[in-house]
Amino acid sequence: MSADFELIERDGMGRICTLRTPHGPVETPTVLPVINPNRKLITAHEMRKDFGAQMVITNSYIIARDPRLREIAASSGVHGLLEFDGPVMTDSGTFQSYVYGNLGIDANEIVALQRAFGSDVSTVLDIFSEPDFSREKAEEAVRITTDRASTALRLDGGRGIIACTVQGSLYPDLRERAARELSALGADYMAVGGIVPLMERGMYPELVDVVMASKKGMNPACPVHLFGAGHPLIFPIAALMGCDIFDSASYAKYAQDDRLIFPDRTVHLSELEYNPCLCPVCSDHTLKEIKSADRTERTGILARHNLHIIFSEIRLVKQAIREQRLWELAENRARSNPSLFDSYISLLTHYDFLERFEPISRKSGVSVVDGVSLSRPSIRRFSYRLDAMRAGTGRDMLLVGGTKPYFSHLDFSLKSGDEDIVARTPFGLMPITLTETYPFAQSSYSLNAVPEPRVLEYLSKFGYGSFRSVEGKWRRGGNTVPAFAYIDLIRKVCEYQFGAGLSASLLSGKIEFTHSNSTGKLRMVLRDGKQILFFRTGEGLFSLKFEGARLIHSATQPPAMRVVCSDDAADFVSSGKSLFCKFVKEADACIRPGDECIVVDGMDRLLACGRAAMNREEMLAFRKGVAVDVREHPSSA
Ligand code: GUN
Ligand code: ZN
Repeated sequence: MSADFELIERDGMGRICTLRTPHGPVETPTVLPVINPNRKLITAHEMRKDFGAQMVITNSYIIARDPRLREIAASSGVHGLLEFDGPVMTDSGTFQSYVYGNLGIDANEIVALQRAFGSDVSTVLDIFSEPDFSREKAEEAVRITTDRASTALRLDGGRGIIACTVQGSLYPDLRERAARELSALGADYMAVGGIVPLMERGMYPELVDVVMASKKGMNPACPVHLFGAGHPLIFPIAALMGCDIFDSASYAKYAQDDRLIFPDRTVHLSELEYNPCLCPVCSDHTLKEIKSADRTERTGILARHNLHIIFSEIRLVKQAIREQRLWELAENRARSNPSLFDSYISLLTHYDFLERFEPISRKSGVSVVDGVSLSRPSIRRFSYRLDAMRAGTGRDMLLVGGTKPYFSHLDFSLKSGDEDIVARTPFGLMPITLTETYPFAQSSYSLNAVPEPRVLEYLSKFGYGSFRSVEGKWRRGGNTVPAFAYIDLIRKVCEYQFGAGLSASLLSGKIEFTHSNSTGKLRMVLRDGKQILFFRTGEGLFSLKFEGARLIHSATQPPAMRVVCSDDAADFVSSGKSLFCKFVKEADACIRPGDECIVVDGMDRLLACGRAAMNREEMLAFRKGVAVDVREHPSSA
């Protein structure tokens, strides 16, 4: 009821968000170092100052069972106990119960205590569901956890933030149902629990399936905490699945065992002959000094090294989201470990769900090194859409070879009659008119790793008649793309972006266009003398002009391409201001982040058009942030 969570940047299901807590905002993805109140190896204050931690996590059960800690927490709060004025989350003792057996903790009491200690995020006493649980046991863990969450949320009455944990062992349907039930209860901070044994045993494919199943049932506007995933090797793929918050006790645990964390693995100090790390502690101490330091000092040094690596990897993940290169980062990391690689392949099997969150284009292109890279959702969506457009053409095909940029360099005089020009590209065979469009146009690829396209298969699949192949004549310089090629491109990109029916309505009148004289790139599309579409050359996709939005509006019935805005925001939007999530009443389920959309009021009157920042589920779930970046409104026409 109360987590204030706003989406700022996104890539796939990964996102940068702001979580506002009573002790200040936290920018996710982030990692919360675990502070043991008994043994402050590194203090919360140092966590912030030296490593950039934004929030820390401690354990209310450990505080509650120790009279001295409990007294301090009761009188000066958990912030007083940790001598920290930033956000503090508390866990409930679930993990201790898992490790030590039933500890007789009272579920209601432990949540009430966390509130009394002034915790910014309290945690329900969930039941840890282990990977080898029978279905019955896993169901029971879910049932008890949901009951306890329900009570905790009711008693709290929406005053604080309460983490509700999705359990369910390895049963995807249980995980999804648990997440759905917790979301229906109004939980606004979700955790995925029971994964520590999966981390410890390197069962990453199972971990991916557990997280994806949980995400499918979750309110997409909730922060998602992956409990006990403190090793950085999991951060990129976890962030890609939309996990926002991690916690790490591993920095200390590993340090106590003389182990150093690296982004892709862990190394025992005794095995390290050369230290590749340049973090502040590794720069200050030679390996010899670290090895010969006494135990306490050594643990401190290694814990600090581990924290530097952990926080550095989180920044790497955030930068990748910012640049929209998170898929690349996750794929690269996956290649460092066979089980992690299998987990990446597992992730790709969730295409249908992933695709709903895939932006329609990105700031940066995709980089393709082999068939695995080609399986990324953005590339699969591209080829599925192309397949749908080409089915049963019955036309003739002219196959050309060459390299990018195909469209602006081809000598179109090669074409005769009613031929479709198809380019042989590393993404397979594709209409030359779509080689300017994301993701192909912006991709970089290895020529070695991509299989030769099967031409005959393509011919029969799409019902081509005759076919001839030319290596193509390529113009160097000069910009004499003929008008018919531009018109072909307009029709094809329109169909790719808006579908066949809509594209036919949009382009039904007299079509003219303008292009850049210096680059030859298409710019504006006019229909019967009025501007309807603007070509974004960077992505090879169209933006709607208001006249184009009008055409779409009158040619279709709701919900096509629509975002319905509540009446109190209608004036705001029709004057050109962005549409915020809290004013969205409905939206077309086909809308993807980055898609063009039209904004209408409750009576389906057209107010504006622009670019969706989210899909339908997100627009409806988030209470803060922009749903549609409005670009055109009645007076911009
Ligand atoms: N810490 C590590 N795993 C878990 C879990 O499943 N639940 C809770 N509450 N804390 C954890
Ligand atoms: Zn280091």
